[in-house]
Amino acid sequence: MKKNKVDIDIKQSIKNIDAYTHVRGESIYVDDVNVREGTLFSVVFDSPKAHGKIKSIDYSKAEKLQGVERIFTYKDILGENQIGGILPDEPLFAENEVHFWGQPIALIVAESEFIARQARRLITIEIEELAVITTCKEAKEKDNFINAPRSFNLGNTEKAFGDCDYIFEGETFSNGQEHLYLETQGAYTEPLENGNIKITTSTQGPTQVQKTVAKVLGLAMHKIEVDVTRLGGGFGGKEDQATPWAVMAALATFHLNQSVKLILNRHDDLRMTGKRHPYESTYKIGLSKDLKILAYEAEFLQNSGAACDLSPAIAERTLFHATNSYFVKNVKTTVLSCKTNLPPNTAFRGFGGPQGMFVIESAIAKAANEIGVSASEIQEVNLLKENDEFSYGQTATQVEAGNSWYSAKSSFNFDSLKQDVKDFNNSTSAFKKGIALMPITFGISFTNTPMNHARALVHIYQDGSVGISTAAVEMGQGVNTKMLQVAAQVFSIDNSKVKIETTNTTRVANTSPSAASSTADLNGKAVLKACNALLERLKDVASKELNTNKKQIKIKDEIVYMNNEQTNLTWTELITITMLKRIALTENAHYVTPIIQFDKTKEKGHPFAYHVYGTAIITTTVDCTRGTYSFDSIKIVHDYGKSMSKGIDLGQVEGALAQGIGWMTMEEIAYGKDGKLLSNALSTYKVPDLFSIAKTIDVVPLETEGNDMAILKSKAVGEPPLMYGIGAYFAIQNAIKAFNPNYNFKFHAPMTPEKVLMSLYEK
Ligand code: MTE
Ligand code: HPA
Ligand code: MOS
Repeated sequence: MKKNKVDIDIKQSIKNIDAYTHVRGESIYVDDVNVREGTLFSVVFDSPKAHGKIKSIDYSKAEKLQGVERIFTYKDILGENQIGGILPDEPLFAENEVHFWGQPIALIVAESEFIARQARRLITIEIEELAVITTCKEAKEKDNFINAPRSFNLGNTEKAFGDCDYIFEGETFSNGQEHLYLETQGAYTEPLENGNIKITTSTQGPTQVQKTVAKVLGLAMHKIEVDVTRLGGGFGGKEDQATPWAVMAALATFHLNQSVKLILNRHDDLRMTGKRHPYESTYKIGLSKDLKILAYEAEFLQNSGAACDLSPAIAERTLFHATNSYFVKNVKTTVLSCKTNLPPNTAFRGFGGPQGMFVIESAIAKAANEIGVSASEIQEVNLLKENDEFSYGQTATQVEAGNSWYSAKSSFNFDSLKQDVKDFNNSTSAFKKGIALMPITFGISFTNTPMNHARALVHIYQDGSVGISTAAVEMGQGVNTKMLQVAAQVFSIDNSKVKIETTNTTRVANTSPSAASSTADLNGKAVLKACNALLERLKDVASKELNTNKKQIKIKDEIVYMNNEQTNLTWTELITITMLKRIALTENAHYVTPIIQFDKTKEKGHPFAYHVYGTAIITTTVDCTRGTYSFDSIKIVHDYGKSMSKGIDLGQVEGALAQGIGWMTMEEIAYGKDGKLLSNALSTYKVPDLFSIAKTIDVVPLETEGNDMAILKSKAVGEPPLMYGIGAYFAIQNAIKAFNPNYNFKFHAPMTPEKVLMSLYEK
């Protein structure tokens, strides 16, 4: 086997710059901010029904409770009671109707959170209940949609099905997923002079918060400052849904001229926030005798919840990734965003891509089972190749689908792994093993082209230290470390000379959220641009100082070199000279991703800067008496490009993988028919722990050229590896089949032990 280079390189690669304060418990989150004297605390009063007309609300007892300052409702909003980002369909506070269980109705502000919670119990509400919709099928029957359907088409599926030797149809379901960021949603708002407000919050989108606060309060954006130090995890759950809490706290600060804190406790957070979208989908797949997929059709029903939120963008990405790593000549895919009475579902790592990929992997598994081949045979002959066309018109280039697939098979000796599984299954009956391969292809860029921009503000201080502000939000993914690396590398100065500032809307404005795995690419390129401009300026100064041509000047390890020879001029001295010459030591750069475009009227274009590829091999053992399972090993060949931070990138692969496996196998969100969240605590919602993942995880980097649009050719890594987890579902299916030949493959995720047990003994 190829030597696992990662283990060696990690030791040499940079540590996450947050590691030190994290392990010492010194990292600052919203709830750790030192609050001003007189700060008030708040809790949200939310709907106890999923759908209905509000007949009356009695706040009188709550208002009279000692220590309650004031209760805010929609009536206190001077601007617009509207927080919808893509469509204006979501009020901050419900007015006359409620559309989901947990929908905010009022904010109770008191001297302490304890008092505010007590006051909440004293509020009575009368609701005339209306019919509750919780599934896509019901929504579709009632024509209840968020927006018009979207379709991506290539070739002619109808005609192609006529040429197929095999055609299979079926249904799939994938459930939602709770983000379970360790830091719950929250905000701390402070009044500044002249009615200005400062907001410290845990958001992936500081500008979205600023814009929405301004709109709801009826103020200009420049009166609102949003500051983010870091997030205790976001995972997409704070791209849009960090906004309402900041708006509520700001509304209270606006009226009371007092600092206000609003931190959701875990129960409130679980109940009030949206999650990954559940999907109910149907597919039709047609293959030739030699297993080529000639035609693929799918209809994706997305459970959007009660308001638009980011649903249309997520639906779009489902279509972009509907054929995963395969080239299919004839494709017809449609997505419908179904309006239901669940909390508005939202971004979650993968952003609709995983939901799309699960369906084609299900179709392939179904076909393989019916034809009597293994799924990997179908997967292999259909892998994407150079210059293949995606259904959305982009031509695939620098394709690593085959490379990662064959490299995984050979590096990890797939044939012998497969044989081991066979031998094991022949020799035992109480336990069965299953193995599955999972290739992934994920497009990098915001699918909404105008969002692909970022800025950086770089100061070199007169002592030679550097401060960097960008739009990047650190949420545990290590983006701050990557920004620091870019600056330190360009200037060739020690890491300790660079500080990454908080993400603040007064320093970097009009930003896109930190999302789409593109944060390091977009912001890193802006940092690169700003630092390069400063470096050129410094070289100018040095060349004049040393009476030479600028081309002869180099800065290396904080020393100025001339003609590759060390001079007496140091970095710090050069900065002092530049300062005395009254030359600017600050630079602001703006970066936009080149090339990308998309025409929604044709549903064709070139939306992605590049794609990330990889292949995972997952082996599981099922306990056929209990229905429980564990993963023996997970072996991955992953395309990092030229990874700039190997330890951080490996952490992203492992974390995403764990989240993917959790989504596919154990995390089961349950709502009652009445729209009440039943899995409303960690006792009923099981997330993967150390033992749920695998006894061994091997990640071998696929050494590729990288891409010029990736920061320092180090490819985006945040989301793609989540989809390796889909393989876990199919490994379990294969193990069940080995035990029970009558088993009819089912595509209804997550594959919980209960479902496994039923399947093992299905007749
Ligand atoms: N890793 C950690 N530790 N915490 C997070 O919240 N979010 C994920 C991923 N990795 C997340 C994470 C999601 S949803 C995205 S889009 C990317 O990180 C965002 O960061 P990036 O663009 O810098 O990759
Ligand atoms: N990914 C994540 N967030 C987004 C996207 C995307 O493609 N588009 C809009 N918001
Ligand atoms: Mo990630 S779902 O794009 O925040």
